[in-house]
Amino acid sequence: MTLKILQFGATGQLAREVIRAAPAARATVQALSRAEVDVTDRDAVLQAIATTDADLVLNATAFGDVDGAESRQAAAFAINGEAPGFMAEACERRGLPLIHISTDSVFDGEKDGPYVEADPTRPISAYGASKRAGEVAVLERAPRAAVVRTSWLFSALGRNFLQIMLGLREHPSVQVVADQHGRPTASADLARFLLATAPRWVQAGAGDEAWGLLHFANAGDTTRLGMARAIFQIAGGAAPELVPTTTAAFNAAAARPVNAELDCARLNAVFGVTPRPWREALEEVMAEMRETAA
Ligand SMILES: NC(=O)c1ccc[n+]([C@@H]2O[C@H](COP(=O)([O-])OP(=O)(O)OC[C@H]3O[C@@H](n4cnc5c(N)ncnc54)[C@H](OP(=O)(O)O)[C@@H]3O)[C@@H](O)[C@H]2O)c1
Repeated sequence: MTLKILQFGATGQLAREVIRAAPAARATVQALSRAEVDVTDRDAVLQAIATTDADLVLNATAFGDVDGAESRQAAAFAINGEAPGFMAEACERRGLPLIHISTDSVFDGEKDGPYVEADPTRPISAYGASKRAGEVAVLERAPRAAVVRTSWLFSALGRNFLQIMLGLREHPSVQVVADQHGRPTASADLARFLLATAPRWVQAGAGDEAWGLLHFANAGDTTRLGMARAIFQIAGGAAPELVPTTTAAFNAAAARPVNAELDCARLNAVFGVTPRPWREALEEVMAEMRETAA
């Protein structure tokens, strides 16, 4: 049986990976772009969910500009904080499952060790606070909702750290933050997990352990500098000198957790899934990029 997914978001890196991976997972995705449904428009969100024949709703939208969120807090909170609540309200009315994506940025980064789902949240940026507001809105309103936190997404599609680094290839030197660590995650791996798990979510009743908070990140811990080194190693050829810098010296508008590591033990316990190492996923994504460019 083909599973139908109503997806808010069509152009983002995760949204595009879900669309790309759907046929292999025997799923169809109706992806709504911002032009079709602006998720900050409550009536439009309610209408889209009220009239869908989908089995499951996936929110792949975000105000994802972490630094920009500091000066555009109203927009960040509307998209990341309030819109997921509209989706939860509509899903609750229709009895539909809702899968919402969140982030390591709900934590302050001060924990010594990987974060588990039950750890207290304390966002240190407007982006993190807006994403936490979205988590709360979803979990309070929808009895059949999963909030999947992920981290450091990369993909051949869209703007992300991998693309930014490759874009700096011709530069003689590039400063990269060496004191933030986390788990780089392939958007494609997350997309395939979401699609593979969708049938389980469609079957699960309220109260099932499949609902609630869940961490999904590729395995292994590294720094931004470590990821940059891996990118240029895999790319081969000319590479800039990578100059380690600190979060403080980088002086970005938004604070970022120095420890963004997500523990994925619950993912394994509930769904039997262990994500592969981030480096293996990075090699695969970069190989695909080379094939596409050839
Ligand atoms: N990127 C990361 O490193 C990272 C890390 C951890 C968690 N996450 C989470 O993972 C999820 C996916 O992130 P991503 O990197 O795929 O995001 P992304 O590439 O920034 O894409 C965001 C999508 O949201 C859409 N959107 C924004 N505002 C909208 C609105 N008002 N109405 C409808 N659509 C709207 C955008 O459409 P337009 O193109 O029209 O603006 C775009 O398609 C998000 O929940 C994000 O918070 C991301």
